[in-house]
Amino acid sequence: MKVLVTGGAGYAGSIVSRLLLAQGHRVRVLDSLLYGGRGLLGLYHQEDFHFLRGDIRERASVEEALKGMEAVVHLAALVGDPACSRRPELAREINLEGSLRLFEAARRSGIKRFIYASTCSNYGKMRDPSQYLTEDSELRPVSLYAQTKVSVEERLLASSGNGGGPAVTVLRFATLYGLSPRMRFDLTVNEFTMELMTRRKVTVYGEQFWRPYLHLRDAARAVLLVLTTPAEKVAGQAFNVGDTGQNFQKGRLVEMISSQVGGRVQIERVAQVDDPRDYRVSFEKAAAVLGFRITRTVEGGIQEIMEAISQGVITDFDNSVYRN
Ligand SMILES: NC(=O)c1ccc[n+]([C@@H]2O[C@H](COP(=O)([O-])OP(=O)(O)OC[C@H]3O[C@@H](n4cnc5c(N)ncnc54)[C@H](O)[C@@H]3O)[C@@H](O)[C@H]2O)c1
Repeated sequence: MKVLVTGGAGYAGSIVSRLLLAQGHRVRVLDSLLYGGRGLLGLYHQEDFHFLRGDIRERASVEEALKGMEAVVHLAALVGDPACSRRPELAREINLEGSLRLFEAARRSGIKRFIYASTCSNYGKMRDPSQYLTEDSELRPVSLYAQTKVSVEERLLASSGNGGGPAVTVLRFATLYGLSPRMRFDLTVNEFTMELMTRRKVTVYGEQFWRPYLHLRDAARAVLLVLTTPAEKVAGQAFNVGDTGQNFQKGRLVEMISSQVGGRVQIERVAQVDDPRDYRVSFEKAAAVLGFRITRTVEGGIQEIMEAISQGVITDFDNSVYRN
């Protein structure tokens, strides 16, 4: 399949692009390189890879990028609550207007499949802590980042397949972890592991709050699985992507990391009564409909990051390129 990956130079995008190429697909990446292009360096020697530097807000770039493509995996965004609250106008322009315009252009150019990267943080705070949130649970976004994701989800799902347009699938990813050529140390598992390895110290805000976690290779596998599943099974549908057994409270996560890192570490726990984001999610739909199963766990991800740090694969942890 010929696949356009927007945001393909990013933390997740560079792994999605690799996996698509490894499975014999043709990949074109459209990315404005907000955090540089290192994530793409390993892809250039592959014949089926092509990169276009451009912005999803620019009509000409988008139209050029879509030419001859069959599917779009839309990952490009200003990602995370802090990045979006620092630059709210830009967040709306890229995440909301840019995404909707990209979708319209995809429809005009006859794209068959459109996968939209969304997030479990759309659920905000669970009302009933004894239940797991499912795709049918109410979305209660509490940040601009999640608000833009929810608005785009709604519009895209409502347009899926209309007038012969693309079949849309929304993937609500759990919080990702693991190594990527465009590394992020502002994601919980990566950040806590790095802090405990390099400074032997970590500060945890609101240790009782739940989040689900997912290795980014499994996130990329989910994208591939959706692309290769018949459209009628996935069109107009949202899937939580992760594993029900990989929901953890932050305090528990830090304990897991400390025990794997070993030795004396200092954990500063800052009480936070009112975190607006507290969500424990069920991933049964993706398992039942797509047969999706994870291949990595948080423990394995911690190990992977520890090894890269202890062997000096990454050393410049304070570099701002690692944080959105
Ligand atoms: N990382 C996570 O934990 C996580 C969890 C859930 C969902 N997601 C979603 O997955 C996607 C990828 O996230 P990530 O962690 O790889 O983030 P990232 O910031 O590493 O990657 C985003 C990429 O998009 C590019 N980009 C930004 N604005 C652009 C624009 N206007 N035009 C073209 N390219 C642009 C950036 O240059 C970057 O390469 C996002 O849509 C995000 O919302 C991520």
